[in-house]
Amino acid sequence: MSKTVVVLGGDGVGPEVADVAAEVLQKMTLGLEILQPPCGEKAQEELGTFFPDETKKLIDESDATLFGAAGDTSGFLLAYLRWGMDNYVNIRPVKYYPGSQTPLKDAEGIDFVILREGIEGMYPGREGDLSLLVEKLPDYKDILGMGFSDHGEGKFAVRIVTEKRSRRFLKFSCEFAEERKKNGYPGNLICVTKSNVLRQTDTMFFQIAEEEVKKCPNVELGHYYVDDMARRILRYPKDLDVVTTTNMFGDILSDEAAELVGGLGLAASACVGGKVPYFEPVHGSAPKYAGKGVINPTAMLISTSMMLSHIGMADAGKALEDAIAAVYLEGKHLTQDQGGSASTSEFTQAVLKKLG
Ligand code: IPM
Ligand code: MN
Repeated sequence: MSKTVVVLGGDGVGPEVADVAAEVLQKMTLGLEILQPPCGEKAQEELGTFFPDETKKLIDESDATLFGAAGDTSGFLLAYLRWGMDNYVNIRPVKYYPGSQTPLKDAEGIDFVILREGIEGMYPGREGDLSLLVEKLPDYKDILGMGFSDHGEGKFAVRIVTEKRSRRFLKFSCEFAEERKKNGYPGNLICVTKSNVLRQTDTMFFQIAEEEVKKCPNVELGHYYVDDMARRILRYPKDLDVVTTTNMFGDILSDEAAELVGGLGLAASACVGGKVPYFEPVHGSAPKYAGKGVINPTAMLISTSMMLSHIGMADAGKALEDAIAAVYLEGKHLTQDQGGSASTSEFTQAVLKKLG
């Protein structure tokens, strides 16, 4: 039976990059059923809802979803794809394609992956008035001996780290590093925390990593604090293989790392582990560029390549990635963010030509 892929635009430039993905998938003639049901700003205008029930149903029944970008309108849609589907692993590759705009003198060989826990930590954002904590936890004292009432008026944010969700994510991380090692990578997994300050949540997180890695004897586990990691990403990017971390650290580090290898125009991601996996560029909806035909669809196309590999079409995924890499290497049809002058569609046609 043929697999079904739902391609969603979302907001801003989302629909433009989603259309590129759908076009490329169609032209690759892989026998996939590709659906583009309404969602986002356009659906809001035309149907009075940004997330029609029918779209939701198609996502639920699909094998994978591609998603363009969420602006203000599609925030809930993103929440459905992540939390509604329980996609607890966010895979964010950081790979240099020669020809892309790097600020480094020599970026050749940068090829690592950031694994970001997708469900908990500081997400989806749980906040409130400090007065609530004063009321609920009147006896709580921090390590300086201060209670919540000692701060006067203010807000708080909660960071939840559970054993169960950390374990499934870190198990995935260890197995991911082990699989990569089979393809010639070093099998080096770095767990990133701030356990010198977040002594309970992050110490537990790293301990679970230590336990899980015992089941993957070919993987070597290391640890850095997140501030140190931020520096090392800039200083020693070629030494990294797989980085695993909690939700918000992964969010921040993946944007930072993307800048070494061409910026957000190339940063792709996969959100997997739950009911239906979904794939999306790391960039946002960039409304400033919407409708101008100038957006770089590479991040979406690399996400599409990851999607193909994930649904058992690794050869097609590799062919798409190779075609993108070839366009960068040639350097004739790059978009403005990469120092070129090609439009979104000129770049897309160049990729299609390489695909043959
Ligand atoms: C990302 C984005 C999202 C996040 C926003 C849009 C909520 O920055 O996917 O990296 O913080 O996870
Ligand atoms: Mn982000």
